[in-house]
Amino acid sequence: MEAIIRPGKDSAALLVAQIIAKELRANPSLVLGLATGHTMEEVYGLLVKMHKEQGLDFSLCRTFNLDEYVGLSPDDPRSYRYYMNRHLFGLVNIDRRNTNLPDGLAGDLDEECHKYEEKITRSGGIDLQILGIGKAGHIGFNEPLSALRSRTRVKALSPITIEQNAAQFGSADNVPRRAITMGVGTILECRHCILLATGDSKANVVAKAVEGPITSMISATALQLHPRCTVVVDEDAAGKFQASEYYRWIFENEPEWEEFR
Ligand code: GLP
Repeated sequence: MEAIIRPGKDSAALLVAQIIAKELRANPSLVLGLATGHTMEEVYGLLVKMHKEQGLDFSLCRTFNLDEYVGLSPDDPRSYRYYMNRHLFGLVNIDRRNTNLPDGLAGDLDEECHKYEEKITRSGGIDLQILGIGKAGHIGFNEPLSALRSRTRVKALSPITIEQNAAQFGSADNVPRRAITMGVGTILECRHCILLATGDSKANVVAKAVEGPITSMISATALQLHPRCTVVVDEDAAGKFQASEYYRWIFENEPEWEEFR
């Protein structure tokens, strides 16, 4: 795992967008794993800008989102499909047929989860997975006690997550109680993971994810098992790290990061 500390939330989002753009230019048929949440809005804004100003090409790119609420239709402004259309898919030259999210309205949800896993496998697996982190330490909607080898499935949302997402639904009472999410095991199989966290409200949980013991109570800790995981944070989200100086030293000295410094 590598932890990269950028001075502010804008430079953290820029680094993530630059990594995505670099991988997409190197492989136009990239299979990209996507995440939702406020943190990612800036990353998508930058990708849209790179598409418009530098011709960043999404025409062959295929995408798989981490999760979707159960019971929301794609036209519902609170659904993750709607979020993706609004922040990325509707603003770049991606072929919508190449964009995938779990169907939260599927009649048979278990079958839908199974089909989602099969589709990821048929696409050759996810090359680059973008991740945010919830306040409960979840990646996707892998709530506390999610098995570290779990696959795409229906998960009940925890009270912390319901509270965290209440604003988009008017009140906590309106937040769907369940979501379909890629499992921790599904996420660990992608070739490269990038987790982006900004703001001091994420400092505690990010420190646990990077430096704490691996536990199913905080599914992001499972990323310590991943052979190629990059955690990008701003100074605020880095506030509780024990070894920030070491992370800064790595970023300054690793040849891999030279073009991004
Ligand atoms: C939701 C999503 C997560 C995301 C999290 C953080 O719970 N399912 O994938 O990481 O929100 O959201 P934000 O970036 O708004 O803090």
